[in-house]
Amino acid sequence: MNHAKWITHFQRNRERRAEPDWAAPFNLPESVLKHLRPSLAEYQLGDGGGPACLIAGDAEQFRGSSEAMRQIVDLWFAEEREHSRLLGRALDRIGARRVQGHWSFSAFLACRRVMGVRAELQVLLLVEIVSTVYYRLIQRHCTDQPLRDMCGLILRDEAGHIAFHRDRLAAAGVSGWGLGGALWELQFRGFCFAAAAMLWLNHGRCLTALGARPTEFVREIHRELSRFLWRLGRTVQAGTRPAGSASQLVGQSA
Ligand SMILES: [Fe+2]
Ligand SMILES: [Fe+2]
Repeated sequence: MNHAKWITHFQRNRERRAEPDWAAPFNLPESVLKHLRPSLAEYQLGDGGGPACLIAGDAEQFRGSSEAMRQIVDLWFAEEREHSRLLGRALDRIGARRVQGHWSFSAFLACRRVMGVRAELQVLLLVEIVSTVYYRLIQRHCTDQPLRDMCGLILRDEAGHIAFHRDRLAAAGVSGWGLGGALWELQFRGFCFAAAAMLWLNHGRCLTALGARPTEFVREIHRELSRFLWRLGRTVQAGTRPAGSASQLVGQSA
């Protein structure tokens, strides 16, 4: 894995970040706002508002594997903190209160703590994949320009985070899982759809109030997941290892 590439990416990604015009005229109807407020408040807590670091018991195994990886992980989580700041400004704009806790966030943190760091990384990746769909649908359907601009900034960062995960998975090597790694891909797809179901349970009302449809959400989830797995396969094949499918080569990092 090319650590220098990722350090450069994160440092450059700090540049040319126009702040959304939070003072712009505001005209979202209350029928939308009453669903948007709790949804964005939950995201403000979950997307960088909690502990902005890896919290698995053995997290240091990954973060401390090299000084470069420590720097990359810190830069990655600095962007997550920035998401929480942006979402906080969005909450101020729409007149929503910040939340200090939520059952889904507590469950999310508990899972990350008790699982090993490899599983924590997978959970974070899955959340980033499904959250990409959440922000994309808000960007597509919300009529408020500052909120759309905020989603644009977050989507730009999340694309980098997902690509970083793709690189680290490809670099991790051949699966120790059975059936040539197909089990890895199967569990990854299964957990991704579970994460998507959880997202829809908590935020579906907000997305539908904005004008998104359940079929659109499912289609975007499928597209995002397929794109990730396809690009992962390409990254693996572009490496020095013998060509193979993504599922044949990445399971070790599940
Ligand atoms: Fe984020
Ligand atoms: Fe992220």
